[in-house]
Amino acid sequence: MTANAGQIEYWNGPSGEKWVRNQAIMDASLADATAGLLALAAIRPGERVLDIGCGSGETSLLAARTAGQVTGVDISKPLLALARHRAEGVAHLRYVEADAAHHAFAQEHNLLLSRFGVMFFDDPAAAFANIRTAAARGGRLAFVCWRAVAENEYAAMPFGIAKPLMPPLPPADPNVPGPFALSDPDRLRGILSGAGFSTIGIGKLDGVMRMGATAEQAGIQATSLGPTARALAKFDDVVRARVLVAVTDAFRSYPVTDGQITCRLACWLVSAKA
Ligand SMILES: C[S@@+](CC[C@H](N)C(=O)[O-])C[C@H]1O[C@@H](n2cnc3c(N)ncnc32)[C@H](O)[C@@H]1O
Repeated sequence: MTANAGQIEYWNGPSGEKWVRNQAIMDASLADATAGLLALAAIRPGERVLDIGCGSGETSLLAARTAGQVTGVDISKPLLALARHRAEGVAHLRYVEADAAHHAFAQEHNLLLSRFGVMFFDDPAAAFANIRTAAARGGRLAFVCWRAVAENEYAAMPFGIAKPLMPPLPPADPNVPGPFALSDPDRLRGILSGAGFSTIGIGKLDGVMRMGATAEQAGIQATSLGPTARALAKFDDVVRARVLVAVTDAFRSYPVTDGQITCRLACWLVSAKA
């Protein structure tokens, strides 16, 4: 099987389409992570930025406000189509459909950036070694990825409710490609140093994820993300409806603050010299 074939299928199928439909909601939800990442990245005017797993292009667009050239790379046709649409008129922003683990990048980027786009590689060590080849001399890496599911209420709460309502699942391996694949900081450090990165920084970012204004919106969002969404993708509409009702009910006891129900999110902010 082709490397990363499972992820290429996943992000070009219904899950990719769901991210397209929910782009505005997702970008608003992830505002804390985005702000943390951009502060870490400290993009300087004129820099060349590679946005890895750029999806629908939020961080590419934000980087393009300062950078001299931004290239977003992704494997998802539907997300890239939306990213290109959002970038109309931005001359120094372009998108490439390619697998970042294998693409022959020009060695010209000052910053290798990613918001939640680098946890999906079959062979993360080889993928990060390839990504490193995209850096210009003195280039740097800055990305944000998830800490463990248990620390992320937005993922742990709905999954805890969903689990008894779904057919049994095999035990989850936290290191398989997926949102939480880089959650172990020792493993993450080993992958990056093995790939040739140095001066590796792994710091905590704690924030909130905005889940929506109502329990109904929060229920939809919580079942569209993370381990609950991935598990539900395996089951039929009856199971999905049952889980959605239960998760929505759980959100009825959550306070609405400044018009939003929120859940705790927990990320790693990762930096390194390439
Ligand atoms: C969780 S989404 C994040 C998207 C975007 N960075 C954002 O924050 O909205 C993960 C993204 O990584 C992309 N991706 C997964 N594996 C990839 C690979 N091997 N090469 C390039 N992109 C990849 C997916 O297609 C998807 O767009």
